[in-house]
Amino acid sequence: MSRIQPSAIRDVQKKISKKPGVISFAAGLPDPDLFPLEALAVSTEKMIREKGKEAFQYGLTKGYGPMLDKILERMARKENIHATVDNIIMTTGSQQGLALTAMMFLEEGDIVVAENPSYLGGINACRPYGAQFIGVDTDEDGIDTEQLDKVLSENPKVKLLYVIPNFQNPTGKAWTLERRKAFMEVINKYDVMVVEDNPYGEIRFKGEFVPTLKSMDTQGKIIYLGSFSKILAPGLRLAWMCANPEVIKQAELIKEGWDLQCNQFVQVQAVAFMNSYDLEKHIQGIQQAYKDKCELMLAEMEKEFPANVKFTKPEGGMFIWVVLPEHVDANAFLDTALEYGVAYIPGEFFYANEGPKNTMRMNFTTVSEEKIVEGIHLLGKALKSIC
Ligand SMILES: Cc1ncc(COP(=O)(O)O)c(C=O)c1O
Repeated sequence: MSRIQPSAIRDVQKKISKKPGVISFAAGLPDPDLFPLEALAVSTEKMIREKGKEAFQYGLTKGYGPMLDKILERMARKENIHATVDNIIMTTGSQQGLALTAMMFLEEGDIVVAENPSYLGGINACRPYGAQFIGVDTDEDGIDTEQLDKVLSENPKVKLLYVIPNFQNPTGKAWTLERRKAFMEVINKYDVMVVEDNPYGEIRFKGEFVPTLKSMDTQGKIIYLGSFSKILAPGLRLAWMCANPEVIKQAELIKEGWDLQCNQFVQVQAVAFMNSYDLEKHIQGIQQAYKDKCELMLAEMEKEFPANVKFTKPEGGMFIWVVLPEHVDANAFLDTALEYGVAYIPGEFFYANEGPKNTMRMNFTTVSEEKIVEGIHLLGKALKSIC
């Protein structure tokens, strides 16, 4: 327990929730107005009548067969990942995939390499095992592969790499194809495993599809994590891991001890939903809604923010990353922003070690278009008072 730290982000969110009426860009949630509630209600009722005994019964640790088949078919069709049931296991959210991987690969003194910044939940999943962290920088094209090569050559204790190549949380950045190829060349030289966390890959609303690392994996080094959280609903806690058969066998053994299996009801329910409704069409609706909000927010930021404030222009996902002038401490500035009636997450909390203080993460999915305009105007006003 001494290695587990409370989440600084949760503390910030608590602070924000104490200020009623604040327009908050601090959330990390999908838009609940896009959950297909009616379709889920109809397909779930039918499913209980037709498959109730199966849905309420125990199932296999690996997962419900028809669910695994759906995932394998989708990965082949959409991601060019050609896998078999030996390569996958269902997980309770991709968060459990992260926790399983950490338990499998890490022990005291091992090193985890993560992008600078990265998803705190991934970093925190590694902390209980006494891992140390090294951050590698990213630029507009993705992770800095030269820096990565240097880190790997100088640190034989690196066991795991944790990366989010598509519309990363927190920056919204996506790696180019060239950078992905360069990354694979580097990691193939070393005895390391890579977690490719891809919860946002299907929420591309602009630009061309870029292949996953897993689809380029010739040595079984990539542990790919997929999730229904952002394409259907996170409350289902429905996700999967795709990796080489040895890793999957170990994951199955650990998972059996943790929770026996994923929620059987939810797996049968999601299959019933996908059999009756077009998930791909539903995802297109999410892409369009997020595109509209993201573009509106970027246009307002362009108009309202001081010229020395920079920000990413994501082609998918749920977040925009803002870089303030170097002298601004975004954590201290949050109090000022709250006075103006607007909130965000200070970016320094997304670094495994110390990070720069002049950044913030802004979410565009849960705020209405009207509030986006109002909130960015208020934040712009607050920023002009210090930038
Ligand atoms: C990068 C990343 N990985 C994993 C997760 C957890 O996803 P899940 O709901 O599948 O556990 C999140 C959630 O926001 C995330 O942003």
